Amino acid sequence: KKRLNIGILGLGTVGSGVLHILKEHQEKISQVTGYTMGIKTALVRQIEKHQNQTDIHLTTDVETILKDPEIHIIVEVMGSIEPAKDYILQALKQGKHVVTANKDLIALHGNELTQVAKENHCDLYYEASVAGGIPILRALVDSLAADNIKKVMGIVNGTTNFMLTKMAKNGLSYEAVLAEAQALGFAEADPTNDVDGIDAARKMVILSRLAFGMNLPLSAISTGGIRSVTATDIQIAHQLGYTIKLIGAAEEQNGTIHGMVGPMLLPNEHPLSGVNNENNAVFVTGSSVGETMFYGPGAGELPTATSVVSDLITVAKNIRMHTTGDGFSHYQHETKLTAKED
Ligand code: HSE
Repeated sequence: KKRLNIGILGLGTVGSGVLHILKEHQEKISQVTGYTMGIKTALVRQIEKHQNQTDIHLTTDVETILKDPEIHIIVEVMGSIEPAKDYILQALKQGKHVVTANKDLIALHGNELTQVAKENHCDLYYEASVAGGIPILRALVDSLAADNIKKVMGIVNGTTNFMLTKMAKNGLSYEAVLAEAQALGFAEADPTNDVDGIDAARKMVILSRLAFGMNLPLSAISTGGIRSVTATDIQIAHQLGYTIKLIGAAEEQNGTIHGMVGPMLLPNEHPLSGVNNENNAVFVTGSSVGETMFYGPGAGELPTATSVVSDLITVAKNIRMHTTGDGFSHYQHETKLTAKED
């Protein structure tokens, strides 16, 4: 079987997960794609830290990967906007397909990257960028393609869901649960993007693009976080029959998309009320299908890597079928929808 070589940018948590899954599931991957797939070269910051990786080539120079004609696909799992964006643009211009888990990059620059991918007949997939292990982007674009999606509403930030769950169960303060989330490695040292709803708003930009085929600018998403939510608020709400969750929502009303992120009171019997700890869930309402919900881990090494490797499998199938450059990220239907600006 022909081998597809991958160059991976970053060997942190998700990168290590990708290596693990490619190795563990190589037989299945080869059966479903018709190729053997493996990492040829990894871009790392310090080679000494990864000496245990004996069967891949390690480099600190990205050119080793971008200029290698034997590398067909780039996996970007380094995070942040730059230099990831520059590397991806260079890769696409070299005719390499790209799979990324980078939600900030896709939320803020997804259009430009998609355009460059299209011009170069390359694939660009990013299932792992929203809700880690939940296959929600494919669900919106493929599985629900026949429907007219009216509303997407979800718990798309695991850190804040973990915090709200702990506050509800143990009556702990915001500060105490934040410290716990940081100790467990869920929240960043600077947790602003999580607790102020910015991470969730970025994910809503990506979800809206694929659900409605339109670009909902971040500025059109009224965004709030959980800093002012207290354990008492949560407990009183619960006694009244409600659960407080940090919800991201985008809804179509008369041709306009209304987007928001903020703490919401959900009836206790709402399916999203039962989504606890660091889990994520996305509740999708379509005019024909009615209500559906997609639930699972929103982060973590192996769940996120599963989405990355599934994207790799899709790229491999596209290569075999000669349909690269037409991936779900390129999807945009004719839409007259507009965004509701604040
Ligand atoms: N900080 C993010 C979260 C990581 O808590 O959901 C996954 O995108």
